[in-house]
Amino acid sequence: MNARIYTLILGAMVMAGLPALQVKAQSGADMDRFIDELMQQMTIEEKIGQLNLVTAGEVTTGSVVSTGVEAKIKEGKIGGIFSMTTPKRIRAAQELAVNQSRLKIPLIFGLDVIHGYKTIFPIPLGLAATWDLGLIEETARISAVEAAADGLNWTFSPMVDVSRDARWGRISEGSGEDTYLTSRIAEAMVHGYQGNNLAADNTLMACVKHFALYGAAEAGRDYNTTDMSLHRMYNEYLPPYKAAIDAGAGSVMTSFNDINGVPATANKWLMTDVLRDQWGFHGFVVTDYTAVNELMDHGLGDLQEVSARSLQAGIDMDMVGEGFLSTLKKSLDEGRVSEVDIDRACRRILEAKYQLGLFDDPFRYCDESRAERTLLAPAHLAKAREVAGKSFVLLKNDQQLLPLKKKGTVALIGPLANTGSNMPGTWSVSADLEHTPSLLEGMRALLGEQVNIIHHQGANLLEDADYQERATMFGRTIPRDDRPEAEVLAEAVATAQQADVIVAALGESSEMSGESSSRTDIGIPAIQQRLLAELLKTGKPVVLVLFTGRPLTLGWEDAHVPAILNVWFGGTETGKAVADVLFGDVNPSGKLPATFPQHVGQVPLYYSHKKTGRPLAEGQWFQKFRSNYLDVSNDPLYPFGYGLSYTTFAYGEISLSRDNLPSNGVLEVYVDVRNTGNYGGEEVVQLYISDVAGSITRPVKELKGFQKIWLEPGQSKRVVFELTVEDLKFYDANLDHVAEPGEFVVAVGTNSRDVQEGRFTLTD
Ligand code: NOJ
Repeated sequence: MNARIYTLILGAMVMAGLPALQVKAQSGADMDRFIDELMQQMTIEEKIGQLNLVTAGEVTTGSVVSTGVEAKIKEGKIGGIFSMTTPKRIRAAQELAVNQSRLKIPLIFGLDVIHGYKTIFPIPLGLAATWDLGLIEETARISAVEAAADGLNWTFSPMVDVSRDARWGRISEGSGEDTYLTSRIAEAMVHGYQGNNLAADNTLMACVKHFALYGAAEAGRDYNTTDMSLHRMYNEYLPPYKAAIDAGAGSVMTSFNDINGVPATANKWLMTDVLRDQWGFHGFVVTDYTAVNELMDHGLGDLQEVSARSLQAGIDMDMVGEGFLSTLKKSLDEGRVSEVDIDRACRRILEAKYQLGLFDDPFRYCDESRAERTLLAPAHLAKAREVAGKSFVLLKNDQQLLPLKKKGTVALIGPLANTGSNMPGTWSVSADLEHTPSLLEGMRALLGEQVNIIHHQGANLLEDADYQERATMFGRTIPRDDRPEAEVLAEAVATAQQADVIVAALGESSEMSGESSSRTDIGIPAIQQRLLAELLKTGKPVVLVLFTGRPLTLGWEDAHVPAILNVWFGGTETGKAVADVLFGDVNPSGKLPATFPQHVGQVPLYYSHKKTGRPLAEGQWFQKFRSNYLDVSNDPLYPFGYGLSYTTFAYGEISLSRDNLPSNGVLEVYVDVRNTGNYGGEEVVQLYISDVAGSITRPVKELKGFQKIWLEPGQSKRVVFELTVEDLKFYDANLDHVAEPGEFVVAVGTNSRDVQEGRFTLTD
């Protein structure tokens, strides 16, 4: 519907005795006037209806699926729908709202567009491994272009939950362990989705989630409790949400977890004091899936009580559970909530719809021919292949085994070798699983007749069939071979023996990470390790292509396998992109956004930890009465920021433009980086700072800048970082954001461990 048709409807409303509304330009005052006039005509039931978000049932992450959707739309009892796609279906639902409901208020349509829509990009943890903000923004832009072409206007992304616990399955959906990296990615994604104009027909409204601290669930168990000091919250976990909001994100989703005794969805301090009063957020807040109802299981009272409490905490929209719809009117009549509370929430949702241009033209996202032209466009697929290649992290490459030569026979072995449906990775609900090439298909597409590729599945994904079923849901199947393991292994080894080199495609299936996929053992499953051991026994060179949605414990693999390429889940073009890297068309440049521990018992293990009062002496891994373990050193297997290249980079000495940084000044840090190998390649130059002494304890090191540079063989570049007092600020014991004068260490290097240091003093 365009503005003209809306005006006709309004004309009819005038005739019916209702004052006319006019759609006007998108200035604040015009929007306010428009919504004032609209709300004056709304009954309390219609206002509560706007707060109701239902699912069309295509994607469900809980037990409830909405019923009677069509009738409710007509009655004005629904504000938005999620998990409905295609211009045709969305147009039909929108027509019910704008033609058959009393006030013709359009619906908002959302979906989990997490790392791509039809063209799927690497899982977010893989995207973070690119350390390429421009590229990440482009992936969000393409996701928005595709999703908006298919009828949608709202995405439940970015997920910016910092997580330092690899047991937590949803670490795959975020940007890893670091506050700074996650914050910069959060901004890039919001810009990518929303563009410069939310009302454009190719943008989506972003939804920052899961507010807050969802990634700090106790013991890495999904949906579990979070309990955290305020200064850790403000310094380490909250900044990415704030960065996304400062970048203009239009909406926020609550998290499921309890926070220091009050679940996020009922947490007034979090949703109002922090989000609105301290951060000035003006958009709307939606709950996570049935999160209001789940407050009953948290033990906060019955549905009426928890619904009232959520509304008063500052929640605007109730996802799926219909606690608001079914109880708020009663609570209003009983004086448990006020009309002001309901109006506030309703207004915020109407504002979002106004900003999306839905009152102007509710069908602006419903052009079927645009969908046909846009989805899986060749340029989108080319970008997906490029990004995937840049997300892979080369963990080990003894004697330059990689890249492989494009000749001879390669044996591709393992349960992840020929499964297209697992390549997109978790939370890729709109992916076309039928037409996603597997690694085997990708290698054959790249190499044609040049290389003889032979294949064997080698092992089941998991020994336990029930576990494998849980790990291959939503069509992400991997066939099982139920013959005795020894028989299958013997066949695989016989295949491997015919080859010059073995590529072992092992690790997790895509559904072994993601929502409700926490693990206590974060190694490669034992049955696959046994396969790997047999392949190594052949004496042939073995390359491990590792699929994973989380940091894994790879001590044995690191000790025995000569080359390890971690490819996460690279999206639609994974198969081709892995082939590009294995055979040297692309030089890997990814760096780990999360620490890989030696042992799961070290978790949470992260580079920016605090100092202890009993640190180890330099060069020692165990000392009695010092902070350590008896059996394993405190070191990670692979540190944050780590990743190799087919080439090598040499760092010159770092230098600083000054010794003292006045609080209004700029300090420059210089380092020359040279490509000393034989391949052109990209390097991520990382800058960390540490505050030598503070009023509260400070992390040993914090990322404060990075630059990704391309160097041809023999080429050298000077990298310059600028530091100001802003980079040195933190939240002190009073939660004041301060920089304290004194000495700082600045460290620059190729990862968080291998750095060179300089020192400077912040003066008053
Ligand atoms: C539950 C998940 O926690 C959330 O991330 C997602 O956006 C919603 N379900 C909607 O699918």
